[in-house]
Amino acid sequence: MKGKTFYLLTYGCQMNVYDSRLIAEILSKNGYKEIKDENKADIIIMNTCSVRKHAEQRVVGRTGDLQRLREDNPDLIIGLVGCMAQNLIDTKEKIKGVDFMVGPDNYRELPKIIKGNQTTATAGCHFVPNQKYKTGLELYEGVYANQDNKVSAFVPVMRGCENFCTYCIVPYVRVGLQMRPQKDILKEVEGLLKKGIKEIILLGQSVNEYDNNKVDFPGILKMVSETSVARLGFFTSHPYYTTQKLIDVIAEGENIYKWIHLPLQSGSNQILKKMNRKYTKEKYMELICNTREKIPNISITTDIIVGFPGETDEDFQETIEVMKEIHFDFAYMFKYSDRERTAAYNLKPKIPEPVKTKRLSELIDIQHKIIHIKNEQLIGTTQEVLVQYKGRKNNVWRGKTKQNEIVVVEGKTLPGEIVKVKISSLKGWTPYGVITDKRK
Ligand code: 5AD
Ligand code: SF4
Repeated sequence: MKGKTFYLLTYGCQMNVYDSRLIAEILSKNGYKEIKDENKADIIIMNTCSVRKHAEQRVVGRTGDLQRLREDNPDLIIGLVGCMAQNLIDTKEKIKGVDFMVGPDNYRELPKIIKGNQTTATAGCHFVPNQKYKTGLELYEGVYANQDNKVSAFVPVMRGCENFCTYCIVPYVRVGLQMRPQKDILKEVEGLLKKGIKEIILLGQSVNEYDNNKVDFPGILKMVSETSVARLGFFTSHPYYTTQKLIDVIAEGENIYKWIHLPLQSGSNQILKKMNRKYTKEKYMELICNTREKIPNISITTDIIVGFPGETDEDFQETIEVMKEIHFDFAYMFKYSDRERTAAYNLKPKIPEPVKTKRLSELIDIQHKIIHIKNEQLIGTTQEVLVQYKGRKNNVWRGKTKQNEIVVVEGKTLPGEIVKVKISSLKGWTPYGVITDKRK
């Protein structure tokens, strides 16, 4: 075992990004060494996503490509972990060229599984049943993710989802809703701050649903904002669980991003109902109005799905109207992807692919124009920017405003610093500015 190296490839959401760092820590503690070159690795682990079919197809393609590495290294182990792995385990399917599969609740088993593979090599997949652990939270006990970013870190506050939006596979592959104890969240946050982390993003599939021992999500957010963290955000929230109390905490927390991600999914009430989203268009608009009233400069971002089964032209027009009325600061827009096991899989009529494509491109066009107009309004303003990465040119950096908006800044600084930036122009639609002052 000594000296065996592993390479991690991550697909999908922020939770997967976090989980990959957790896997890195679990394997490192067991004597494996992480490397950043897949060609030299003894073990390749793909942490996968199953939200859309396309994401799964990419993994299948990549698995095929990786097989060439077996010519030079016949003992190479290739493993699939994460949501797609769990989906395949549950549906008893296998993928050619994969040595083992492990779902999101069983990463503690990885060293044992890999060791088993070293004797059987490519003999076939080792399934790990999801029921192995009573709770996926055991995953976190005594181990904190080995986060490799020097400025920002994710901290999960819960695992799983039980909302069962009818298009979504997540509740089937990240089973149950488990709240992480407050104490544990705080311990991880404090450990990260000691290492110099400046920005923390609290994570959960529907993070504002947190409720544990009489502590709700606004309580958790407030608790973390009272540490020395410079910037604090959370992702992703569900409109149904977004309370006035949460908006008040965002408004009051000096170090909390003036930003909230509120997935709308559709602007049509009949589609929202079929999606099991638990709100109407009117309720959603009311929430946006109240939020903007309390925090006028708040950035509101969203997710939209086009082409959900039964979506008529009129339904789609309603989505467009809501988008034009709200003017989101950013939107992730997707074509509906039919996922077996979900309730929407059985809904009809399905929308033909060309119609979905046309609707998506129409929506993207509208949203791009909105972003352009919004960002033009930033020209001439001064923003407080947390510097995150070095850009390609000298003295050029990427950072984030208090609205969690990415900007490119020029001047003398270092990652982790908060600087004042005067926005002078747009590059594409990305605001570009010059450092005028340093906050610290
Ligand atoms: N098809 C398309 N988009 C989906 N999402 C979730 N499931 C599907 C699906 N089957 C989108 C939703 C969600 C985001 C993370 O992914 O918009 O908010
Ligand atoms: Fe999926 Fe809905 Fe849960 Fe989000 S809240 S993970 S969309 S089921």
